[in-house]
Amino acid sequence: MKKPIISVKDLVAKYGEKTILKNISVDIYPQEVTVILGSSGCGKTTLIKNILKLYQPFSGSVKIFDKEVTSMDEQEFDDILSKIGMLFQNGALLNSLSIFDNVAIPLEQHTKLSKSVIEKMIKVKLDLVNLGHAINMVPSELSGGMKKRAALARAIALDPDILICDEPSAGLDPLTSASLDDLILKLKDLLNMTILIVTHELASIYRIADRIIFLDNGRLLFNGTLEEVKQTNIPEVKTFFEIGKF
Ligand SMILES: Nc1ncnc2c1ncn2[C@@H]1O[C@H](COP(=O)(O)OP(=O)(O)O)[C@@H](O)[C@H]1O
Ligand SMILES: [Mg+2]
Repeated sequence: MKKPIISVKDLVAKYGEKTILKNISVDIYPQEVTVILGSSGCGKTTLIKNILKLYQPFSGSVKIFDKEVTSMDEQEFDDILSKIGMLFQNGALLNSLSIFDNVAIPLEQHTKLSKSVIEKMIKVKLDLVNLGHAINMVPSELSGGMKKRAALARAIALDPDILICDEPSAGLDPLTSASLDDLILKLKDLLNMTILIVTHELASIYRIADRIIFLDNGRLLFNGTLEEVKQTNIPEVKTFFEIGKF
């Protein structure tokens, strides 16, 4: 068995008094694609945000690269963050900046590379997501799919070991969303990344998933490989894989 690259143990997450995640324990393995599933509001985004310390876990342990991160200070954790790319639900490109400048952000924040090296890296990343031609455009000139690809180029700007995507296909038509999946898979192989992704699209899950984490109302209902999920008798999980809905 491979050693996990992210290991979550007995994680409890709350917003104020409200408990959202109830003792979640999951491992994410290197170079795998792990899909987080569960109905809206079950705590998928909360799990990601607690792993990334965007919210401080109430209790439990989160290890990334075998290091306990819950107790790290900001500076120490920054080092870990520089090895993790993130693609959030609402893409969040800065609308006033060009695509070039958007992709430059992590490179300027986390490295001391010269301007000319940064420029070359941006070009390489934009070519990887087929946006070389859009380098000087601003987000409002891009289609929905192109914006996601630009956000993806920014997420991989630092050649992260881990890429975390929270519903990257939200709002895209099925064809565009399929091509985004293919792109994520291509980048995973090219850059040797571990991927943690929230998605509801059955077709996409079958294409990309190695492992499935299924959450239900803040609890872990299923955790296993794509092969194992096909054999499961857990009603909610079975139903989802039969009809593609929660
Ligand atoms: N910042 C917040 N403050 C308070 N409650 C929140 C906050 N973010 C999410 N929630 C609540 O936590 C629950 C889980 O939300 P979330 O993790 O976003 O679910 P999912 O991503 O699975 O749709 C929901 O009931 C949601 O309303
Ligand atoms: Mg969410």
